[in-house]
Amino acid sequence: MRILFVGDVVGSLGRDMISEYVPKLKEKYRPQLTIINGENAASGRGITEKIYRSFLETGAQAVTLGNHTWDNKEIFEFIDKAKYLVRPANFPDNNPGQGMVFLKYNNEEIAVISLQGRTFMAANNCPFEKADELIAIAKERTSIIFVDFHAEATSEKQAMGWYLDGRVSAVVGTHTHVQTADCRILPEGTAFMADVGMTGPYDAVLGMEKDAVLKRFLTGLPVRFEVPKTGRSQLSAVLIDLDQKTGKAKKIQPILINDDHPFYS
Ligand SMILES: [Fe+2]
Repeated sequence: MRILFVGDVVGSLGRDMISEYVPKLKEKYRPQLTIINGENAASGRGITEKIYRSFLETGAQAVTLGNHTWDNKEIFEFIDKAKYLVRPANFPDNNPGQGMVFLKYNNEEIAVISLQGRTFMAANNCPFEKADELIAIAKERTSIIFVDFHAEATSEKQAMGWYLDGRVSAVVGTHTHVQTADCRILPEGTAFMADVGMTGPYDAVLGMEKDAVLKRFLTGLPVRFEVPKTGRSQLSAVLIDLDQKTGKAKKIQPILINDDHPFYS
């Protein structure tokens, strides 16, 4: 089984990359499942129902979120009926939405889990304990478990990879928006990557308009960050091959598409 996972989609340029390249990537690599992190898809902050639906229509089976989950207020109107939208599972227990969904491929089920880190981020429930809890539930139904760990600190992401090694098929990081060169299969069979990278504005700082970010650094004054709507863009993703019976990963490879790393069909 092959899973294509696309990293943090930022703004309209990111969404355009999804509609242009996800069909091409599906054609080239033939993944059975496609998952997109869409937590920055609506102008860099959160997601709308229309965007969520457009991702599913483009060929994704699930959409994961992160620390910007609640930033677009429209989310509260549709999250409870969005069956394939996955927000961090370790948010407070009384939050709406779900932190794990089950997808179907042929007769197999695939659990998709979202977790959020706590280092340099909000003090949510412990992602490690929540992972234990959800894996126990998922294992009753399937051995194929995919984890999007939305976290700031590379150390916390690596720690999660080791913690879940052999218990899930993949732990891939999101949130820091720069693709890391550390794809690997951990010794007990879990595919790991600290950060898949960002899908959106290429001539920017982590997807935000670069002049505003520079002004903040140069002056220390408060500056509103905006997502560029024009200019060059990129797509960051990862492909994971796994054994459908055992759920163990066999191969992990990064995908990066931008003017410096052109796509070849
Ligand atoms: Fe994030």
